[in-house]
Amino acid sequence: MRLSLRFVLPLMLVLAAIAWGVAPLVDQLTLRWFTRDMDIRAELIANAMREPLIDQLAAGSKTKIASYFSRIARDERLYAIGYCATPDDQPLATRSLPPQIRCENLSQWQDAENPVLESSRGSLHVAVKPLNEEEEGAGWLVLIHDMSFVTRRSEETKVYVFYFFMALAAVVSLVTVIIAQLSWRGWVTGMRALLRGEGLLREPTPRSNAPEFQPIARDLHRLIQDLESETRSRDESQITWTPDALRAILHGELRGENVIVISNREPYIHQRRGDHVEVQRPASGLVTALEPIMRACSGTWIAHGSGSADREAVDGSDRIGVPPEHPTYQLRRVWLTPEEENGYYYGFSNEGLWPLCHIAHVRPIFRSADWAHYVAVNKKFAEAVVAEARTPNPIVLVQDYHFALLPRMIRELLPDATIITFWHIPWPNPESFAICPWREEIISGLLGSSILGFHTQFHCNNFVDTVDRFLEARVDRESFTVTLGGKQTAVRRYPISIAWPPDPEMVDKAIGQCRAEVRAANGLPAGHLIGIGIDRLDYTKGIMERFRAVERLLELQPEWIGRLTFIQIGAPTRTGIDEYQNHEVQVRALAARINDRFGRGVPPPIVLKVEHHEPREVYEYLRAAEFCFVSSLHDGMNLVAKEFVAARDDERGVLILSQFTGAARELPEALIVNPYDADQSAAALHLALTMPPTEQRDRMRLMRGLVGEFNVYRWAGRMLLDAATMRRRNRLLEKPPVGTSAS
Ligand code: F6P
Repeated sequence: MRLSLRFVLPLMLVLAAIAWGVAPLVDQLTLRWFTRDMDIRAELIANAMREPLIDQLAAGSKTKIASYFSRIARDERLYAIGYCATPDDQPLATRSLPPQIRCENLSQWQDAENPVLESSRGSLHVAVKPLNEEEEGAGWLVLIHDMSFVTRRSEETKVYVFYFFMALAAVVSLVTVIIAQLSWRGWVTGMRALLRGEGLLREPTPRSNAPEFQPIARDLHRLIQDLESETRSRDESQITWTPDALRAILHGELRGENVIVISNREPYIHQRRGDHVEVQRPASGLVTALEPIMRACSGTWIAHGSGSADREAVDGSDRIGVPPEHPTYQLRRVWLTPEEENGYYYGFSNEGLWPLCHIAHVRPIFRSADWAHYVAVNKKFAEAVVAEARTPNPIVLVQDYHFALLPRMIRELLPDATIITFWHIPWPNPESFAICPWREEIISGLLGSSILGFHTQFHCNNFVDTVDRFLEARVDRESFTVTLGGKQTAVRRYPISIAWPPDPEMVDKAIGQCRAEVRAANGLPAGHLIGIGIDRLDYTKGIMERFRAVERLLELQPEWIGRLTFIQIGAPTRTGIDEYQNHEVQVRALAARINDRFGRGVPPPIVLKVEHHEPREVYEYLRAAEFCFVSSLHDGMNLVAKEFVAARDDERGVLILSQFTGAARELPEALIVNPYDADQSAAALHLALTMPPTEQRDRMRLMRGLVGEFNVYRWAGRMLLDAATMRRRNRLLEKPPVGTSAS
């Protein structure tokens, strides 16, 4: 109503002003019309009077003429009549003839454009007509009309015009108010429905339920979704992704909410070495990605305390501030018994799920005892999450295949938590996943998440197909959501990455110095060429295939014998598992055989270093190499590929990358190979060794551009932005619709 008044009042004022402005125009117009009427009337009267007057003048009777004039002047409008024979005469006229009209000035009135005389009687129209039009000198007839009726009429017209505009204003205002009220009501109803989350489709009104409205509503719904995601991606691409940007999202979008990360592997491991304690950084893609995020956002990271000196380092609540040199977040350690570690970590996670999800031709092993430990350890971590939660609705970031059951367990304990689960390894197709005896429990556990993330769309598709195959859940392939038991999980692609720009400490040593030191440390001569591979000693990484490619290169291109050494850093991993022990034995044997074949009397073609290396040393090797070879048989992303790109600020070096890594989808400028094809891989090695520096630069520049733009802050930021949107939506859904009162 206030809105209507705000519009209607000014409208009425404007129309009143128009009416006011129009009035003088109406005055002038009516005056012109009436003057013309008077002229015509005077002409008519003159025509009628001429003949009788000529006769009476001829008869010479002034009295008769006076009474003739008086008779005619009885006409209501005719005020006076006169006759002048010559300009020097006195007029022969009725008594009412105004004194201003004299015979001598008749010519002035005859030629006047506006022959109106203003007198004490009011406005008078003066018409001067020749008595005989054919004969000059017969005298002039003067007819004076009273124009007071014109003024009266003009006043009346002005009043009518004013009333007309006022009535017009009232009608326009009324129509405006009605239209405004109707559209306001419709808009408010629409907004209320949207705020209640009903959207245009979910709970249609009886009218919008009509089949003819359904396609329109569907299109609108889609349009809104497109606009939403377009805005999000536009905003996302406009952000410069840095630790500060992440902090801003946490404090702005998420109002500084409590962030809790859960992973099996801890970011800092305290190891006892004799009488001193050493802090180790594990070789883990997950830790590489999450550590910079936690530094930026603070919060709490809950992980398995696996180091020999971990218990000595924590406080009474099993917490320690990290990074040790400058603590910015809390590490909360969870202790596992050797049986739990065997069953949950070595058994179910790494002998069952790991080979199940990686198509690396190693049979998964599923034991019910391992499953029982897996369930128990997931519960243990759920309790730790509840203990660490400062609010009933924290943001919980669950990491990886060790915790497939955790999202549902947290959902039951903290129903309002926002749970983002990220699956760092591939998700297989439904046929492969069917092997797992507890497949339904695993999928249902993951569907406790608000958002479930994978590196690639391919893995998202596989997951949704698996749900469709094994659970009674609603799968929406358009919005990529799964609804189970009334709770929705969004399945999203978030390609993981690394911190950018890399820590300056990692790249502060000059390339030349890195080369010299690496050669010296490995007994290689000056000018010797180096290839590099850095992985955990895992059978999924294709280390055997890598060595076979080097062997094939030396067979096909013997000119490289003695000139090239491929250095493989293999961080020991999961050494309690038979398959890993066998793999290490096989890798060592293959390296020895190739060295025996091509390394006699010259530097060895392969140097295998099965030991842990700190990130700084890893970067030194990456900077020293001519090429980096990543030959995984199946890999969610593979961050070593991205680290090689980050390490090469000299824009040199060639990346050879397996087509079975998630990274291959993002870095097509690498030499993409099928690691099972030794000939193709050997050809790629030769190409890398002979690639001109300009081509190396062009490829490296493009890859550095991509990794810089899609860095790990963006990976985490996108998840947090999606979580923030989800929380906002949920808050609106909880609110009672506007206008309803809580009774
Ligand atoms: O990146 C995949 C991943 O399995 C991580 O989940 C894990 O932290 C890392 O590789 C190393 O494995 P682990 O923690 O078993 O040594």
